[in-house]
Amino acid sequence: MPDRQRQLLVVANRLPIRAVTEHGETRYETSPGGLVSALGPVMSARPGSTWVGWAGAPGDAPAPFELDGVHLVPVALDPSDVEDYYEGFSNSTLWPLYHDAISPADYHRHWWDRYVVVNQRFAHAVVDRAEIDATVWVHDYQLQLVPGMLREMRPDLRIGFFLHIPFPAREIFMRLPWRRQVAKGLLGADLVGFQTRTTLHNFRHSVPRVCDATTHGSVITYGSRDVATVRHPIGIDFDRFSDGASAPAAAERAETLLENLGSPTTVLLGVDRLDYTKGIDRRLRAYHELLQERRLDPETTTLVQIAEPSRSNVNRYNEIRVTVEQLVGEINGDFGTMDKPAVVYLHQSQPFDELIALYRLADVMVVTPFRDGMNLVAKEYVAARVDNRGVLVLSEFAGAAHQLRQAVLVNPYDIDGVKGAIEAAATMPPAEQSSRMRPMRRLVRRTSAQQWATSFLAELERT
Ligand code: G6P
Repeated sequence: MPDRQRQLLVVANRLPIRAVTEHGETRYETSPGGLVSALGPVMSARPGSTWVGWAGAPGDAPAPFELDGVHLVPVALDPSDVEDYYEGFSNSTLWPLYHDAISPADYHRHWWDRYVVVNQRFAHAVVDRAEIDATVWVHDYQLQLVPGMLREMRPDLRIGFFLHIPFPAREIFMRLPWRRQVAKGLLGADLVGFQTRTTLHNFRHSVPRVCDATTHGSVITYGSRDVATVRHPIGIDFDRFSDGASAPAAAERAETLLENLGSPTTVLLGVDRLDYTKGIDRRLRAYHELLQERRLDPETTTLVQIAEPSRSNVNRYNEIRVTVEQLVGEINGDFGTMDKPAVVYLHQSQPFDELIALYRLADVMVVTPFRDGMNLVAKEYVAARVDNRGVLVLSEFAGAAHQLRQAVLVNPYDIDGVKGAIEAAATMPPAEQSSRMRPMRRLVRRTSAQQWATSFLAELERT
């Protein structure tokens, strides 16, 4: 069957939608996100494209429906699925473990049992809708068993898997009591993709060991099948950010925001999900010390920290929130004035237009996660800097650091190093800003989200 006729099914924990309730009626609209901007164009171009995922609220799932030319199939998660599969195994076992165990992972057998059950539910939703020889692309750590389940039920399918978060070093992966089952699940795919060379290396060195597979270069032979593995870093919709930032409305909004902030001469910006992997606490400590030491002038500097609410039923997320908010309070208490805050902190997600304006006005973007699969915010900032100005301070431990080599790279654990990087960024001459920003913009434009999706699918359909 020629490739262009294959039906495409995408499987991800979340559907790319958000519910909007007006006059007591709920409707769904596309929620702009990394994955949907990558996959939307490819899916709308292929008749029969289907996205299987959770609509985001516990309880009954809405009936399948069409949105922007894509067939959406909601999978229901009841409150105990949310607790054990989503908050439990996915976000309190796998998430911390795969992020280098920077926070201890919890292991509970009933969480694992529910992870298996929910993965089965997703696999069945695919099997029920997949035409013969369809291409199925499974995403991320929540659904690692789905490729193996599909392989057993439907050997005709072409199955790809992409891990958006890091894959840990072998010693860490080996702690997982269910490592063999997870490895087998992943090896059900024909092609497994990772963000960086390091995480791909970790996978190739861990997974064959735990389930008697052999590795030959980039191919893992498991039983009678070959599984290809690839580094395939995800990108963003460059044009959306670049065009948005070029619009006069973005410049106007940036100016208004600057005035509202008390017209500081230096604006630092952090935009993160409120997650303990993102290093927001260390960043705030570094900023506080820089103000205390007068290496940044409190009268002319402001830090804007956007912290998007996330996984708020998981304890560690509440703990990091308390820590961050206490630090913000201390900094403003010490250095804020009636006319100008030292830190503006919002525990809210921001609409696209506001984000673009913030990127435009930020002299320094501070992205300092302890560990991050990619970090699309770093790429968004670069795409929005149509003036080739601004400085990106970027953690060495974000996947993006493998590509954005002209950023000011830092070890986020090293507070003195972060302080030095922020200070250097805040005082960097414009000519150096441009000479760093230009090549990064070229790279982000060239390796867009759409290019990422098309080339992964092409490789999958060649396997
Ligand atoms: C990370 C993960 C995604 C996840 C997103 C938001 O980027 O790689 O799979 O969807 O965080 O997290 P949430 O738990 O809200 O889906």
